[in-house]
Amino acid sequence: MNPAEKYSLEKPVRIGMLGCGVVGSQVARLLLADIEELSTRTGAKLELSRIAVRTIKPYEGLDPSLFTTDPFSIVNDPQIDLIIEVMGGIEPARELIMTAIENRKSIVTANKALLASHGADLFTAAYAKGEDIYYEAAVAGAIPIIRPMRDSLAGDHVVRLMGIVNGTTNYILTKMHEDNREFDDVLKEAQALGYAEADPTADIEGFDAAAKAAILSGLAFHTRVTVDDVYREGISKITLEDVSVAKSMNHVIKLLAISELTPKDEISVRVHPVMLHRSHPLASVRDAYNAVFVEAESAGSLMFYGRGAGGAPTASAILGDVVAVARHIALNSVGQRETDYADRDIAPIESTKTKFLIRLEVQEKAGVLAAIATTFANQGVSIQTVNQTGRDFDAEVTIVTHQATEGELKATVAALNAMEMVKHISSVIRVEGALPA
Ligand code: HSE
Repeated sequence: MNPAEKYSLEKPVRIGMLGCGVVGSQVARLLLADIEELSTRTGAKLELSRIAVRTIKPYEGLDPSLFTTDPFSIVNDPQIDLIIEVMGGIEPARELIMTAIENRKSIVTANKALLASHGADLFTAAYAKGEDIYYEAAVAGAIPIIRPMRDSLAGDHVVRLMGIVNGTTNYILTKMHEDNREFDDVLKEAQALGYAEADPTADIEGFDAAAKAAILSGLAFHTRVTVDDVYREGISKITLEDVSVAKSMNHVIKLLAISELTPKDEISVRVHPVMLHRSHPLASVRDAYNAVFVEAESAGSLMFYGRGAGGAPTASAILGDVVAVARHIALNSVGQRETDYADRDIAPIESTKTKFLIRLEVQEKAGVLAAIATTFANQGVSIQTVNQTGRDFDAEVTIVTHQATEGELKATVAALNAMEMVKHISSVIRVEGALPA
């Protein structure tokens, strides 16, 4: 094949990178190793011009002359057409991307925190200049989910999505469930395997999943959704006992990002642990794998599954974006855009309806169960199942409710806490999927 056939588009596309950590170094290595083939797929010659890092050190397989400690020299360089941002964090990433857009460069980014907080500003600026922002790697690593949501489902109406979008917490919950291992012990392993964020609190407390939930909700419901709109609870309160109760009821505990339209056409978006029935497709997503289960009016149910964390899987998503965006640059065009025309309201968490499992330690004496049932009834919460395990002087009662609002449940828990015969509420966990017969 002669070069003219290979690159039907004459304009070479020059790439600058911001950051070279776990993900960035893989992107640079894979891009350089495959540059001929990726150029052929793009239809234009790709060149990696420069990489900005905080401190210059040797990077295996990468030429030291590629590196600079001045990221502005990249975003202000008129020779550079495309910026890959893999530095993470809000600043200076936001300022650098804004400057790059101002200078007519298209962006490929993996920065979920930035998109979930300042996405609207970045999209507005990019579209005003006729530039792309692609961010497949920002949600669920290697899994193609952003472009399917934005492009492939552009002809449909999404009504609900549920996702396992954090690899670290899924890894921890899987090992607790399958190997009865303690939380802290598995967390260390997940860090060593390179799944966890620099500060693992972002994983454990659900901040990382909340940012991804905001991004997916915006795409699904054509509305700007920020991380502040997402109700969030992490997995740090989940105990081995919770996991074993879930197991005994044929459920698994998963940290889910859930986003759905309410009957009032509001968006209910939340991240919290869920007891999920084993029959649900997401229940079989183990270890650091991610999956997003999407329900759309015409398409029905779809599930996207794959590796959600780690250098090479995330680099795969970035390089896919690079090929698409570089082709637009060479053709002087842009891809499909985010839309916010629906401008839906966010539903208050109090109005969200779910089933709940409540585990209580109670005194062992006559009338306790009746009094507890009355407390639920007084708040309008209907009980689906009750299970009691007696001991000498106390008992553990496990109750699963029918659908109730968060507000009703909160009031029930407060009323239970005020009862003398209730010694302790061990846990309150939301339940999804069928209950065992
Ligand atoms: N810390 C994240 C996770 C990495 O565990 O999924 C990918 O965003």
